[in-house]
Amino acid sequence: MNILITGATGFIGRHLVQRLKQDHHTIKVLSRDGVRASQKLGVPAYSWNYATEEVPAGALENIQMIIHLMGENLANGRWTNQRKREIYESRIISARKLVAAAPPSLECFLCASAIGIYPGQGGDIYDESYAVPEHGNFMQAICRDWEKEAANIESRGVRRVSIRTGIVLGDGGMLAKLLPIFKLGLGGPVGDGRQWLPWIHIHDLVSVYTTAALDTRYQGPVNAVSPNPIRYRDFATALGKVLHRPAFFTAPAFMLKLALGEAAALALNSYHIVPTKLMQTYGFEFKFTHLPAALENLFE
Ligand SMILES: NC(=O)c1ccc[n+]([C@@H]2O[C@H](COP(=O)([O-])OP(=O)(O)OC[C@H]3O[C@@H](n4cnc5c(N)ncnc54)[C@H](OP(=O)(O)O)[C@@H]3O)[C@@H](O)[C@H]2O)c1
Repeated sequence: MNILITGATGFIGRHLVQRLKQDHHTIKVLSRDGVRASQKLGVPAYSWNYATEEVPAGALENIQMIIHLMGENLANGRWTNQRKREIYESRIISARKLVAAAPPSLECFLCASAIGIYPGQGGDIYDESYAVPEHGNFMQAICRDWEKEAANIESRGVRRVSIRTGIVLGDGGMLAKLLPIFKLGLGGPVGDGRQWLPWIHIHDLVSVYTTAALDTRYQGPVNAVSPNPIRYRDFATALGKVLHRPAFFTAPAFMLKLALGEAAALALNSYHIVPTKLMQTYGFEFKFTHLPAALENLFE
């Protein structure tokens, strides 16, 4: 397939590009710096400033699929008003422009979304049947509008999947930012440690994307989290174990905030989320269903 990817130079994107290349797809990417992206990924790349420019026409030629991953990183510092706007617009305005520019050859639009669409409080278990409220918190508003923009492509008969991604474990993302804390032995539970952490191994997340790309049953929102979410205290113990570091000192919330900025809320809130559609509707097979095996794979 001819695939156009945004955010391809990021943590998830570079793993996805590697797999799609192995599977012999033809890839082009959109980046803020096309030259750097092309050198990094070894595929044709186009520079695009989503705020000031329309999508470059060459990037869209003969494209059958768009995979939209780009967005200002949530954990790159304090959420000033300006960064909040950038976090929002780099996802939503870009999605709007991609949908508006989609060529007639387009068959599928895969768009990142996040577990932040769920409330992150209380003891309820959430799956894709959750009715997203009109007035939620900041993360809910971002994810809701991101999904709405992507869903507009459906009026043109194009299949759309929004991948509501949990905390991705791999050589990037939140885990990379938390490692220094854990290496100091300070990665113990935050608060009472009972909050739920919806994780997914990068290998499985890439498989969700590549399967959703080809299997036309995939449609609408899809939770990409392992079938066995874990409480933060058990995550801390398992990670401390593979790193051979004790994890019994409580990590103060401010340390997480230092490492993750306001994105620390994603580790401090409680997200008990299950992958109902992946498991029951599509029969997706995870490679890593249990956290200890996932961490051993990443660290040993
Ligand atoms: N990693 C996770 O645990 C996780 C969980 C849930 C959802 N997600 C979502 O999945 C998507 C990919 O995640 P990731 O971890 O791979 O992200 P990432 O490593 O931060 O990469 C995102 C990419 O987006 C582009 N980008 C960054 N800031 C931008 C800005 N201000 N304007 C335009 N483009 C910008 C960059 O590409 P260029 O430099 O080439 O332009 C960057 O490589 C994101 O939308 C993220 O919110 C990730």
